[in-house]
Amino acid sequence: MIRACSPLLRTLLIGLAVLLAAACGPLDAASAGAEETAVPDPAAALVPAPVSLRAGDGRFALSAATPVHAEGADAAAAARHFAAYAARSHGLALEVGSGQGRAGGIRFDIDAGADFGGPEAYAIEVAPETVRVSAADPRGLFYGAVTLWQLLQGDADRTGGVALPAVRIQDAPRFGWRGFMLDSARHFQSVEEIKQLLDAMARHKLNVFHWHLTDDQGWRIEIRRYPRLAEVGGCRIPAGDGGVDPGTGAPVPYCGYYTQAQIRDIVAYAAERHITVVPEIDVPGHAQAAVAAYPELGVTGEQVEVLNEWGVNQTLFNVEESTFEFLENVLAEVVELFPGTYIHVGGDEAVKDQWQASERVQARMRELGLADEAALQSHFIKRMERFLVARGRRLIGWDEILEGGLPPEATVMSWRGIEGGIEAARQGHDVVMTPSSELYLDYLQTDSPNEPPGRPAMVTLEQVYRFEPVPPGLEAERRMHVLGVQANLWTEHARTFERVQHHVFPRLAALAETAWTPADRREYDGFLRRLPAQMQRYRAMGIEPATTPFEVLADATRNRGSVTVALRNPLGYPVRYTLDGSEPGPGSAIYRAPLDLALPATVRAAAFHGGVALAPAATHVFDDASLLVRTDEQLGTCPDTGRLLLRLEDDGPLHGERAIFNVTIFYPCWLWPEADLEGIAALEVRAGRIPYYFQLAHDEPNRKFLPASTAHGELVVQSGGCQGPRVATLPLPAKPDADGFITLRAPLTPTADRTDLCLTFTGDTRPTMWVLDRVRLLPGRPRP
Ligand code: ACM
Repeated sequence: MIRACSPLLRTLLIGLAVLLAAACGPLDAASAGAEETAVPDPAAALVPAPVSLRAGDGRFALSAATPVHAEGADAAAAARHFAAYAARSHGLALEVGSGQGRAGGIRFDIDAGADFGGPEAYAIEVAPETVRVSAADPRGLFYGAVTLWQLLQGDADRTGGVALPAVRIQDAPRFGWRGFMLDSARHFQSVEEIKQLLDAMARHKLNVFHWHLTDDQGWRIEIRRYPRLAEVGGCRIPAGDGGVDPGTGAPVPYCGYYTQAQIRDIVAYAAERHITVVPEIDVPGHAQAAVAAYPELGVTGEQVEVLNEWGVNQTLFNVEESTFEFLENVLAEVVELFPGTYIHVGGDEAVKDQWQASERVQARMRELGLADEAALQSHFIKRMERFLVARGRRLIGWDEILEGGLPPEATVMSWRGIEGGIEAARQGHDVVMTPSSELYLDYLQTDSPNEPPGRPAMVTLEQVYRFEPVPPGLEAERRMHVLGVQANLWTEHARTFERVQHHVFPRLAALAETAWTPADRREYDGFLRRLPAQMQRYRAMGIEPATTPFEVLADATRNRGSVTVALRNPLGYPVRYTLDGSEPGPGSAIYRAPLDLALPATVRAAAFHGGVALAPAATHVFDDASLLVRTDEQLGTCPDTGRLLLRLEDDGPLHGERAIFNVTIFYPCWLWPEADLEGIAALEVRAGRIPYYFQLAHDEPNRKFLPASTAHGELVVQSGGCQGPRVATLPLPAKPDADGFITLRAPLTPTADRTDLCLTFTGDTRPTMWVLDRVRLLPGRPRP
């Protein structure tokens, strides 16, 4: 029996077929609309792209009656994954059997004696009567199952049903380490959410889940011998209103940890999908949650709280023998829980101030004959390595473990660029490339105002895709040390699983292709043509990817009585638009050049591929009033504001949506470049206030404050840039209004009609900070 699709699923799948058909055409509008009748190209379906694919003639039709044969437990496991995916995405209820005595159908075979090109390699042959997926190893067969599932076309409900196009595929991964790191310390994900991510990783053919389980803000792994680690270290009181019950004023802790039973369950779940879990226990820094639980582990012995601030914090483990024994006892339980080869011990961002200030640590350093604190950290990490190596494991750490000397067998995860990886490889160590500038998924993916909180210094889909893990400058004989590549999601700003998914998808698809596909088969435009099919698949599998890369953004320039509107899709998909308020469709005007429109104007626009809108149409309304407003997202950053632009959310309400602000935390200043002040008499500003919850460590002196000249500081407006004359000064109240915002107005006495307006909050307002939400120019002077 063919199970009927839900109307939503059917719509998605019809869309998928159209997109697959469109995926071989150029990435422009010329292909739109004419594809409904085209035969879908099998290559169009696959992310990551395989090593080799040859399309054949005809198709293999599937129904619930299609036999799926698999001999032995390993082959059956791969077949069952295929059947489960097909059931979810295509409503096909396939039964997996041994296939004894039944001809035809789909066969999953492990042929241990055959040479497929490695244990993760596989082959697929689809012919009109039979389908065979084969590999030498269960891993390869699993990846074959994923590819076969991606090849499914059509819809169980429609004429023609579900089919596989005739094709031959041979495939094997480029890298053995295809990783994704999730920070479960800053924000915590449920076991079910972790499993959803593992499932998605597996469907991207990724095979290492690096699980960041401990940090200053939370210890999230149960250690039986030291229960306070999870019970005390697993709870923090969030900063500001987010940590207070508005009804009672009582603290509202943010708590969570994974029990050992849950961890075993997750590790087993990952293993079924051929994913190794690499746990991270971060030492000697990022230690505050552990020290909060057991103050004797700290350098000062003082009781500290689990940290509720972000950034780089000073708390380190001390270097007493008892602390090493403690950490070894922790690692002993970690090793029991995680059967994989690698254990990650962090090593990052351990500022050494506490060690430098401690007589006891300094005395210990001298006893050990160590020259400096870098050598002491190296000693610390080597001690961890000795313990792990004795248990048959390997240590991996962030690239700071190079400082002071690497432990003999350590593997290095290069995050501060690729230089640490190059250096480690030259020293003969294995490396995993995960540079923050290209592969950190908490960096936002577009400049859309609809992005969630994160780091607006962008890591675009294209950057992830184009990252080359093997540096061309690395000597040929050292290149084998590059084990692979990994994307990392830090979760300071990812409070919900919805946000986690937004950051991860679809950039994980780009990572997958970087990690899997041979360098000479990678091609960004081809990837973009396949991406819409991947997006449909995400949705069919219950994943909510980011839609911001598929939106249409509008940049408007105000003219007299008219507006010039430039439209763009962040990924460069063709844009279609309407000016009459109607929904843009595949027949709507294609955007080619900026539009000059009389005011008022309404532009509705969507990006299209294969005649299908890639996201709901954006509606942009332009009138005299809207053109005189800039939100914080539309404002620029000021010169000399430090490196750190953040997109931060308000601390309240406790539940539900919170306001989001773009702010440079070193210097709260915003720039409206080329503001058109002709006819403008005044300015209105809406501002909010959020907790200042950052530890900047050695960057602290780079924070700048303009001195305040009134009790609570003021918002200073300068024209001609941030060195120009003050054109308005708006004194600030002691606190915002009940809704968390203030609205201030001041007359404006500009010196020029078109000028850079610089808006700065004065004073050191910590532990809170004012943040700009919106600036509105108010006309009053008649235009000449
Ligand atoms: C890191 O981003 N601190 C490894």
